[in-house]
Amino acid sequence: MKQWEIDTGTVMHGVFGDPIKHSKSPIMHNRAFRELNLNAAYAAFHILPGQLKDAVAGIRAMRFRGVNVTIPHKLEVMDYLDEIDEDARAIGAVNTIVNDDGKLTGYNTDGIGYVRSLKEEAGFTVAGKKVLMLGAGGAARGVAYSLAKEGASAVYIANRTVSKAEELAAVIGPMTKAAGMGYDAIDDVRDEIDLIVHNTEVGMHPNVDDVLIDTSWFHERLTVSDIVYNPLVTRLLREAEAKGARTHGGLGMFIYQGAYAFEYWTGRAAPVAAMREAVLAAF
Ligand code: ATR
Repeated sequence: MKQWEIDTGTVMHGVFGDPIKHSKSPIMHNRAFRELNLNAAYAAFHILPGQLKDAVAGIRAMRFRGVNVTIPHKLEVMDYLDEIDEDARAIGAVNTIVNDDGKLTGYNTDGIGYVRSLKEEAGFTVAGKKVLMLGAGGAARGVAYSLAKEGASAVYIANRTVSKAEELAAVIGPMTKAAGMGYDAIDDVRDEIDLIVHNTEVGMHPNVDDVLIDTSWFHERLTVSDIVYNPLVTRLLREAEAKGARTHGGLGMFIYQGAYAFEYWTGRAAPVAAMREAVLAAF
């Protein structure tokens, strides 16, 4: 059998989201399957609100091995699974489902994907470091949780809606020193932080000239990380680089969340370099 042919033995995977048209996950995972010569395939499914329960039942009925879940379904999907990994439960979102003979388990690979990317691409070791998070939405939850679990000595969370920052700080409070605040309070902590992680959509395509906070105080001992990956280099990162800070873009988080999902499904080490190449080529 040629590995790129779909046949009756092909193990199916997919991603459920709305919208889903622009997802790079199919390109990335199909390349990974080909790279390891696995008879498996991955497709995108446009699942509308109200259809998620039936779609998850379809994973069992059609014996898909694995599914990624993306916006807006990451929370609701937890109601339809048999088991939820402890970290995913604490984060409050599932982005990866593994089907073991009809038993569906939910995981969250966004946060650990982020930390692995930060380690491998920026050479940044989280343990003992102080972090400033910008944003407290769904993506920020996984990142903040994983940074705390990895041993960050403080995680400050600034957000437009301060109550959401405080809620997230309460979630990770048992793991590390944590506090929520508004953007106007950044001045109080800026001298002690080692890492800034931007987790909002500000600066994302098409609004590429936007930047969330004042960057004039950035300096060369700082690492600045942006989870936005379209564009690959945001205005925040450009300004950080101009100040001599180390920068880290968002593409790696996407690649590594996929790599962890791939590893759950296949039990094989993900071919990360090939996955990255496929995604970059698709831009
Ligand atoms: P995601 O799952 O992508 O994180 P989300 O849960 O809707 O999406 O969270 C979006 C984040 O971007 C939030 O932190 C949001 O701030 P609020 O909680 O105050 O809404 C932030 N955000 C979005 N647009 C913003 C803007 N124009 N200025 C500041 N923050 C913004």
